[in-house]
Amino acid sequence: MNQRNEIKVWDPLVRLFHWSLVGAFTVAWLTEDEWMVLHAYAGYVVGFLLLFRLIWGLLGTRYARFSDFVRSPARVVGYLLELIRLRAERTIGHNPAGGAMIVALLTALLITTLTGLLAYGATGAGPLAELLFSHSAYGSELFEELHELFANFTLFLVLLHLLGVAFGSLLHGENLVRAMITGNKRV
Ligand code: HEM
Repeated sequence: MNQRNEIKVWDPLVRLFHWSLVGAFTVAWLTEDEWMVLHAYAGYVVGFLLLFRLIWGLLGTRYARFSDFVRSPARVVGYLLELIRLRAERTIGHNPAGGAMIVALLTALLITTLTGLLAYGATGAGPLAELLFSHSAYGSELFEELHELFANFTLFLVLLHLLGVAFGSLLHGENLVRAMITGNKRV
């Protein structure tokens, strides 16, 4: 605890992961039409960040662990009902709905990255080129469609995520964005 009655919640690696993910996702989104090589590199960065987060969710610091914030569907629904009544409890780590959103975001990002790798490989580029090129006459189109679908779904989740962060900040009178920058939260 420091002098302002705050404790460290988000360790430096979680914060680095989060803001690098925001950067890489934004670059990937902005380059999808015209800048395929840059788009692919942004996708690789997202992929490595996801790998790191999956490992850190198992081995990381207290509030970074999946065991700290992944809750049962019943608990998530219960929390959302409390949220509607503006009576949801404040949590130090991720709240149950936030935890569910993180699982959804990580899963959607993982599928988007994998389908992107497959689509790229089927055009003869990227790490899967040897494996896929010439074996998939129409694979590229199918993977591209799936990739676009999941990218759009991820964007939809990001918008919900931002709404959730804004709502949670207002409800409990705390700046959650600042907490993801400094790592600290009020006790
Ligand atoms: C400027 C835009 C964004 C802001 C201000 C923001 C803010 C935040 C905040 C405040 C948290 C912590 C929530 C809590 O207190 O429980 C968080 C967590 C998270 N956000 Fe964002 N976010 C942004 C964009 C994104 C994007 C684009 C993605 C994914 C593509 C994303 C994925 C995540 C994930 C996965 C976590 C969990 C962090 C962890 O525990 O590793 N965010 N975000």
